[in-house]
Amino acid sequence: MSAADRLKIFSGTAHRGLAEEICRELGQPLGSAMVGRFPDGEVDVKIYDDIRGADVFIVQPTCPPVNDTLVELLIMIDCCLRASSDRITAVIPYFGYARKDRKDEGRVPISAKLCANMISAAGADRVLTIDLHASQIQGFFDIPVDHLYSKPVICDYFAGLTLNNPAVVAPDVGSIRMARAYAASLSAGLAIVDKRRHSANNTTVENLIGDVDGCDVVIVDDMISTAGSITEAAKTVKQRGAQRVLLGATHAVLCGQAMSKLAEAPVEEVVLCNTIPVPKEKQLDKITMLSVAPLLARAIDRIHRSASVSALFDGD
Ligand code: R5P
Repeated sequence: MSAADRLKIFSGTAHRGLAEEICRELGQPLGSAMVGRFPDGEVDVKIYDDIRGADVFIVQPTCPPVNDTLVELLIMIDCCLRASSDRITAVIPYFGYARKDRKDEGRVPISAKLCANMISAAGADRVLTIDLHASQIQGFFDIPVDHLYSKPVICDYFAGLTLNNPAVVAPDVGSIRMARAYAASLSAGLAIVDKRRHSANNTTVENLIGDVDGCDVVIVDDMISTAGSITEAAKTVKQRGAQRVLLGATHAVLCGQAMSKLAEAPVEEVVLCNTIPVPKEKQLDKITMLSVAPLLARAIDRIHRSASVSALFDGD
């Protein structure tokens, strides 16, 4: 069996379209498997391909419904382990529960750590993921994690637009690092929103640190969930004299009132990646979807060949 023959890519049900796109990029058929449900809702998996000795990649963002997609991933890993595959990489373009990454008050869980434990315990040898909510989550795993950034995808898109007097804005302190990197690549100014979160779906803006008057503004974040953070930031920069306002985010969670907030926000364009599937009813005219499949395909190819993954980001 050649090295290429030993590469096998399977998909859970969370985002088969992305897995198929990755396979097309690699010129590789998607592995043959059944991922279904028993009548009582329990997950049922059967791998049809012979994967003994194979280098297996399972593509499954743990996106909503996260409890389902996560358990499906765990059971697929178990299945591949018991089928004597050589190495299993969990390809998790969006890692759910990531925002519960610390004990910021008494008697709360660290769910991100628990998820990492479960993925390792199921038998994963490696994890490949994109824009973790906090990059320290890599340390929750005791197996290697290849952490990719969507920046080359989203930032290249913005670089192709004609932005006048551009400024990049971080909608909260957690996004400063990302915003700083975009600002450097776009030769843009940098501003930071002082956001306060009162509850999961209630945030307010206290202040804007920096100047956006007369600027075309790009607001970047790791995810848009209820869209409260990013649309409040958009309103603030508009009040402070921004000209055009564009949003960029990796993970399109788009839950709760996100669609109406995005539709009503003073925003020209919302640029998102397909780490999570976005159903047609959530594809507003002002939303541009970019694919991370080429990036994931290149990373999978490099992991399979034991080549550097960080080299993908040289110059970024
Ligand atoms: C927060 O720390 C994250 O980076 C995002 O800003 C946040 O999770 C987005 O959530 P929402 O869209 O519900 O405001």
